Amino acid sequence: DRIGQAAGRPAPRVVEADIRDRTAIHDLMERSQFDAVMHFAGLKSVSDSVSRPAEYFDVNVGGLVTVIQAMKSNGVRKLVFSSSATVYDLGAGQGAIREDAPFGPNNPYGQSKLMAEQVLQAQEAAAPDWSVGILRYFNPAGAHPSGLIGECPADPPDNLLPYIAQVAAGQRQYLGIFGDDWDTPDGTGVRDYVHITDLARGHLASLDALERDGHGHVVNLGTGRGLSVQDVRRAYEHACGREIPFRILPRRPGDVASCYCDTQRARDVLGFEARQDVDAICASSWKWVRHLYPEVSPS
Ligand code: WQD
Repeated sequence: DRIGQAAGRPAPRVVEADIRDRTAIHDLMERSQFDAVMHFAGLKSVSDSVSRPAEYFDVNVGGLVTVIQAMKSNGVRKLVFSSSATVYDLGAGQGAIREDAPFGPNNPYGQSKLMAEQVLQAQEAAAPDWSVGILRYFNPAGAHPSGLIGECPADPPDNLLPYIAQVAAGQRQYLGIFGDDWDTPDGTGVRDYVHITDLARGHLASLDALERDGHGHVVNLGTGRGLSVQDVRRAYEHACGREIPFRILPRRPGDVASCYCDTQRARDVLGFEARQDVDAICASSWKWVRHLYPEVSPS
């Protein structure tokens, strides 16, 4: 309902089902005459994937196969797929990451995403009338500017922005910064934070490109700009008008110093450029946090 409210249109129809449920997904596809599928349904926590890898391959690869089988049975041949920068060898220490950078996921989550991409590319090779848009997200962040839609992690958030948001909301005492001795300008980790609404626009551009080109693409979605943990923490303090206390903690296993993308192919193939900066990300997140925790006093 809030999607409809935010979009100023009737709420979209929702069917709840497990992405691995062949019958449910097939029946839905059979009833609905979809023109295309955007497939986001997956598990996405790196640390969680290390502790329960089979679940990640079951959902992220098995679930995708269920979707592909249902599409094949119902003549649906366009798919936009949510992939991730984690498929790359992020430890290679290169600068801006291009789509032809070496693969090398160092966790089951990233391996499941790379495997899913390989399943899709095999499907496209087997069925030339299929076209697939593979979008490799860098660091999605922020919330819908209406303040009506955003992320609310069930358990302690892995990711930086939701964690800072919970500190700002008084749900946590301080931000633990995983290392300040990285080879980066201020010693804290550098990442490419892309606003979730820019990311959404990238998906629409991908769908348009599939319609226009009649073939697929593989594109990085990011801003092309790297920001450190301290940059984000300060931007959030500015957005919420209060201090975000922090402590330096040991490095987190699997982390790398720096990861941000080359945006050339996104511009060339999708005509996509991220428009929103870290201030817009933090302002939208803070507005959403006040929706989540109404007792939080505005700054
Ligand atoms: C960002 C930076 C941390 C939390 C992961 C996945 C990736 C994608 C995005 C799904 C790093 C630092 C974080 C904290 C911190 N997910 N940090 N304290 O690790 O770049 O990417 O999320 O597609 O696949 O790997 O994102 O938000 O966890 O960390 O200091 O409490 O913030 O060290 O430098 P990451 P992140």
